[in-house]
Amino acid sequence: MTPEHRHYITVSKRLKLIQHDELIKNEMLLEENRSVYWVSGWMDEDEAEILYDIACQEKVEHIFESGTCNGFSAMWLSLVGCPVTTFDPIDKPKVWDLVGGKPDNVTYIQSDFAALDCKDLKGKKLFFIDGDHGFEYADEDAFTALLNSSSGDVIVFHDLHYRAIKQVFKNTIEEHGVSHEQYKTRYGMGKVILK
Ligand SMILES: C[S@@+](CC[C@H](N)C(=O)[O-])C[C@H]1O[C@@H](n2cnc3c(N)ncnc32)[C@H](O)[C@@H]1O
Repeated sequence: MTPEHRHYITVSKRLKLIQHDELIKNEMLLEENRSVYWVSGWMDEDEAEILYDIACQEKVEHIFESGTCNGFSAMWLSLVGCPVTTFDPIDKPKVWDLVGGKPDNVTYIQSDFAALDCKDLKGKKLFFIDGDHGFEYADEDAFTALLNSSSGDVIVFHDLHYRAIKQVFKNTIEEHGVSHEQYKTRYGMGKVILK
């Protein structure tokens, strides 16, 4: 099996369309260390692909993530090409340390998402909420995103299968959404475009 072929089946069919030299070169290494960077219950590869697609379709210029964990979703988001800033108060082994270092467009901040302050930043933003799944924390993350957002910005929630996240998603749609989309994935995902 050629490295390209292996890459095609182990990462995703769609990723082939966005071929990323470094990722292809490092894919075998990622696969060998799969258990380090992908944890059951975290975003799966189909969801990562949907997240990537949303960011591309919405033509976002900045991405902010709550919940870096091992950096799997941040690695995917780095493929969009714009700056990605990801927050997690607990520093864990990062997938990029296995594959030659952090992508240049990713900034990891060891802090709660609540520390985010990008109100004055120009350009369309995407906020990806995948931090603590308790209502209080998810609600605070949504509040942080809203506080830093402008009309047309996007919030994507992961883990809609959690009742608390579903509630925060619904509240965000009702109070701040112009349109929304729900994805029936393994853990459930939802997108809200803000008014
Ligand atoms: C489900 S994991 C994130 C998985 C990651 N997004 C992925 O798909 O690869 C949740 C992470 O949120 C972090 N977390 C908890 N509270 C947080 C907060 N207030 N701000 C940011 N991250 C937080 C946890 O430490 C944990 O690593």
